[in-house]
Amino acid sequence: MRIVLLGAPGAGKGTQCKRIAARYSLLHLSSGDILRNQKAEGTELGKKAQSYMDSGELVPDEVMVEMMADAISKTPPSGFILDGFPRTVNQAAGLDKLLKVSDDQKIDVVLNLKVDDQIVAKRMTGRRSCPKCGAVYHIENLKPKGEGICDNDGTELVQRPDDSPEVVANRLKAYHQQTEPVVDYYRKNNTTVYDIDANKDADEVTALVFEKLDTLVKSSSVK
Ligand code: AP5
Ligand code: MG
Repeated sequence: MRIVLLGAPGAGKGTQCKRIAARYSLLHLSSGDILRNQKAEGTELGKKAQSYMDSGELVPDEVMVEMMADAISKTPPSGFILDGFPRTVNQAAGLDKLLKVSDDQKIDVVLNLKVDDQIVAKRMTGRRSCPKCGAVYHIENLKPKGEGICDNDGTELVQRPDDSPEVVANRLKAYHQQTEPVVDYYRKNNTTVYDIDANKDADEVTALVFEKLDTLVKSSSVK
């Protein structure tokens, strides 16, 4: 199964992708996580991306398509779920080009997580994540078992530098201007798009998503 998951900052892309990837044995590819790893390793790509990420702007399309082409080339036969890519219509067209190598590789389904802008701000300020395994928590909504400590590996949780209110406002602006049109791009291409109400709590969102995906898998149109 090949899934694209779209949604605003704080829609819960990372949270839901981890659960979806585990249930359907998919490779979870988060463009934001890959960029953050590149930054941490001090690579040329990481240096190039830094100023865009710090201000909440999008990294240029050609950089992103090349980076994701490399990541996607390592996909197992069970498939992938893309988190944070494509984020512009140009990137979506670039991804289509990559996948059209064979018709069998087309995107099977797009999940569009819909969340209100007012909810995003609250989620971002309360987010904490594990720098080692990438697990995502929230100080009120999704607490770790021990305060400030990752359940999986005991690492101290950190706040993302781009979660300040000013940068979140820029990320939301970029989402509305550049990423929302990607949903229409897929609808026009006759790709199945499911809108999911992501204002609900995380477990309810997961239940909605699993219901849709289980039906797709059972219909055997998707492996
Ligand atoms: P990226 O890392 O992708 O950030 P983002 O899109 O802003 O999304 P987030 O990771 O902030 O939110 P999320 O939807 O994953 O939510 P999460 O599950 O963590 O990108 C960062 C930057 O990299 C960009 O600004 C850009 O510069 C660059 N970039 C990346 N990809 C790019 C691309 N393709 N092109 C160009 N540039 C690119 O949840 C958030 C919080 O809410 C957590 O605390 C969580 O516990 C909580 N939560 C989640 N779901 C719920 C729920 N249902 N109810 C209550 N709380 C919830
Ligand atoms: Mg994320």
